[in-house]
Amino acid sequence: MSKVLKIENLHVGIEGKEILRGVNLTIRQGEVHALMGPNGSGKSTLSYALMGHPNYEVTEGSATIDGVNLLELEADERAKAGLFLAFQYPTTIPGVTVANFLRHAVTNVRNPARKEGEDLIPMREFRKEIREQMDDLGMDQEFARRYLNEGFSGGEKKRAEVLQLAMLKPAFAILDETDSGLDIDAVRIVSEGVNRVAAKNDTGVLVITHYERILTYIKPQFVHILFGGRIVESGGPELVKQLESQGYDWVRERYPEAARDEDEMEAAKHGHASAGAAF
Ligand SMILES: Nc1ncnc2c1ncn2[C@@H]1O[C@H](COP(=O)(O)OP(=O)(O)O)[C@@H](O)[C@H]1O
Ligand SMILES: [Mg+2]
Repeated sequence: MSKVLKIENLHVGIEGKEILRGVNLTIRQGEVHALMGPNGSGKSTLSYALMGHPNYEVTEGSATIDGVNLLELEADERAKAGLFLAFQYPTTIPGVTVANFLRHAVTNVRNPARKEGEDLIPMREFRKEIREQMDDLGMDQEFARRYLNEGFSGGEKKRAEVLQLAMLKPAFAILDETDSGLDIDAVRIVSEGVNRVAAKNDTGVLVITHYERILTYIKPQFVHILFGGRIVESGGPELVKQLESQGYDWVRERYPEAARDEDEMEAAKHGHASAGAAF
């Protein structure tokens, strides 16, 4: 059955400062949405708040999957509820191979009642599955034996995230600036991986980006503009074209109150690169 991710009037603050000021967004499984907005408009704040990062305080509103309140769940429980976040800055885990990490993650997501120390999914079964997924994505099997993200190029980090997506099969995936730091070939390869996995598993996808480039490969049906901490415009792919040709000036003019908040956030930004980087 098709699930629904529903975000209503979400307000989120960092260190007492309000960043998101009432975000509304509904995503059904199988739909592809893009969230665009200038740097500092609160895009990553939305993804971290949905994933349960402790630095991001939800002060109002709700986020549910089929009525289950995500905001009351721990980060691992949100993953079990069907939410996956591909980070803008993936964490390195020295000493833990991609395969080992995935075997734990897959076991926990598929068997939510499992307690720490209980059996992982059988090695044979897991090996077969990861091999198939990597073949499907055109990845070298050697990749699974490397330590997670250690010494990975930008493109390899993102491909590791796509492999996670393929193995975990979440109902919803949020991809935060998956294109950042990638050359055009890497963007294409990663995007094709996302498209394939999302189509196969009927994943609802939210692509977060401030460049239209990735959206020529992952084609959104719905496009939203985040500005000053709220979604000011929602439409179809034509919004991407409009931002590409006209920038944000028209958004700024049409939504003066959001523009004021955006400027305030921009002024406050300098000094703290990203609260999420260490998650
Ligand atoms: N560690 C932090 N402490 C305080 N404010 C922060 C921190 N990290 C980000 N912010 C604020 O949150 C705003 C939104 O940031 P972010 O969600 O990362 O934007 P985006 O992903 O759209 O570029 C920034 O403009 C900044 O002012
Ligand atoms: Mg960001």
